[in-house]
Amino acid sequence: MKTIYRTAHAADVTSIGETVAVAGWVQARRDHGGVIFIDLRDSSGLLQVVLDPAVLGEAKDLRMEFCVMVSGEVRARPEGTVNPNLATGGVELGATALTVLSTSAVLPFQIEDRVDVDERARLKYRYLDLRRPKMAANLKARSRAIAVMRRVMDDLGFLEVETPTLIASTPEGARDLLVPSRHQKGSFYALPQSPQLFKQLLMVAGVERYYQVAKCYRDEDFRSDRQVEFAQLDFEGAFWDRDDVLETLEEVTSAVTREVRGVELSRPFPRLTWQEAMDRFGSDKPDTRFGMEIVDLSETFAGTGFRAFGASLEEGGTVRGINAGAIESTRSRMDALTERAKELGAKGLVWMVVEDDATLRSPVAKFLSGDEMEGLKVALGATPGDVLLMAADAEWRTVAGVLGGLRLDLGKPGSHDELAPLFVIDFPTFEPTGDGGWAASHHPFTAPVDVDQMANDPANSISRAYDLVLNGSELGSGSVRIFDPVAQAKVFEVLGISKEQAESRFGWFLEGLRYGTPPHAGFAIGIDRFVAILQDEPNIRQIIPFPKTQTGSDPLTGSPTPVEETQLAELGIRVRPDAKPEA
Ligand code: AMO
Ligand code: AMP
Repeated sequence: MKTIYRTAHAADVTSIGETVAVAGWVQARRDHGGVIFIDLRDSSGLLQVVLDPAVLGEAKDLRMEFCVMVSGEVRARPEGTVNPNLATGGVELGATALTVLSTSAVLPFQIEDRVDVDERARLKYRYLDLRRPKMAANLKARSRAIAVMRRVMDDLGFLEVETPTLIASTPEGARDLLVPSRHQKGSFYALPQSPQLFKQLLMVAGVERYYQVAKCYRDEDFRSDRQVEFAQLDFEGAFWDRDDVLETLEEVTSAVTREVRGVELSRPFPRLTWQEAMDRFGSDKPDTRFGMEIVDLSETFAGTGFRAFGASLEEGGTVRGINAGAIESTRSRMDALTERAKELGAKGLVWMVVEDDATLRSPVAKFLSGDEMEGLKVALGATPGDVLLMAADAEWRTVAGVLGGLRLDLGKPGSHDELAPLFVIDFPTFEPTGDGGWAASHHPFTAPVDVDQMANDPANSISRAYDLVLNGSELGSGSVRIFDPVAQAKVFEVLGISKEQAESRFGWFLEGLRYGTPPHAGFAIGIDRFVAILQDEPNIRQIIPFPKTQTGSDPLTGSPTPVEETQLAELGIRVRPDAKPEA
């Protein structure tokens, strides 16, 4: 599109003989025997511009990241100077006019992908960081992904409805971020952890298909895949069951992957029950891009004389193992793996190296019978050079966590070249809180498969929750919801939320469920996590335009910041920096 500043974008300048005007930034500058070469960068890419300072005096003063407008004639690059890696690598612009639109202060860091810059500096000067080609590409991918999501949801007949971002505090697992009210001193809004309750009320309202690109806020500890503020593609359908949600997910994630990565995901996505995921991969978000699956060896070692295994089995526990393949098998490496296993919660780790003659080398080999060793080799498909790792515990989840963790350490691919999406279904309804109580595994509005069974035996209750997993990351979660207020009350009871508490915290929601609520189900995809994987970025800060640091601050604006005493007074707030929450 022509403007008063340009007739073309840099990357589109390819026709020799044409007269064009381009505008952008000086990415690089080289002086060559009187002429000056610059790489001019704009949002489309790069174009080489050749300037003669004898004709264009201003060219002498050009520095990195000056913002300029140049016009001239497009010509072929001299032989030997063609750059095949660049869209415009065959041409250059012979400048006949140059205008410096604005100069640049000395840069805090180079605007190049290759430069290794401290992250605080990158965030403080995020507007410069975002000029780097990789970051610019990430912004584009994010925009593209959201555009495709909106298009697909719209095509499928969903209505985008905005739900409020100043709401009453609701229970969704993390801490709420609070916003004080000036009109009602001592009262607070909460920023939504998700639109969960509003989208369910939209089902009551007769919006049969809702979606939203929603900002969510959670005051939780930061990690590479967590931010205090993040985006979801949130959706819900009335008269829906699980498979309607999963099909919609396949549709939308396939379309995004196709348009952002140019790759077709193979459908249907595999479905694993939670139990199967835990048993085979030791994780509720299995990375299935590689094998090294966990094998149950409890049968092999039934009645073993080896105490470390026997004791666990006698306590009703389990012995499991993985074949780690032909990894380095030095003593120090094995010691390091044992330490890592202990970090992951193991009491110990048994390792065995399969020798060329198929015998097993291990410090504990002498405690095992010939049958046990043979059984082990068969169960783990052992071949010479393989390292076999085994753990035992009275708690199967401990063994699963240990071997699942080692499996990732040893096998996880270093990049997201391959994409392996899958669904995990049939999650447990509750997780033990550790003090004899129960917490909702997903959230308290998730339907148990069997409500009466749930009430009598929460430990074994299966819920109608499901996750979408991509390359070992939880991309999103959802569930079939409770639409019967009586069933909802029973779940609260198990969660230890009294009638009065439920009434005072979300009575408004429970009231809504009483007016002909349709059966409904839904889901939310973490947009930042999805785009990070598609762009092969290790953390979502690379994908969020203006993210916070690991400690929740923003080096660009300095937030969070103290506020004026008068602002606090208006809100009726007195700060007590040393206050401790009561136990
Ligand atoms: P859930 O809490 O599992 O479900 O969140 C859904 C998805 O949102 C993303 N996500 C995050 N991304 C970045 N930073 C965070 N702090 C963060 N927390 C969550 C993840 C996650 O899988 N209301 C339900 C959905 C439903 O039941 O419909 C919900 O929010 O990718
Ligand atoms: P110990 O009998 O505690 O000296 O352990 C003997 C060997 O068995 C050591 O190599 C331990 O690391 C290993 N070991 C001990 N407990 C377990 C366990 N629960 N699972 C796997 N290996 C174990």
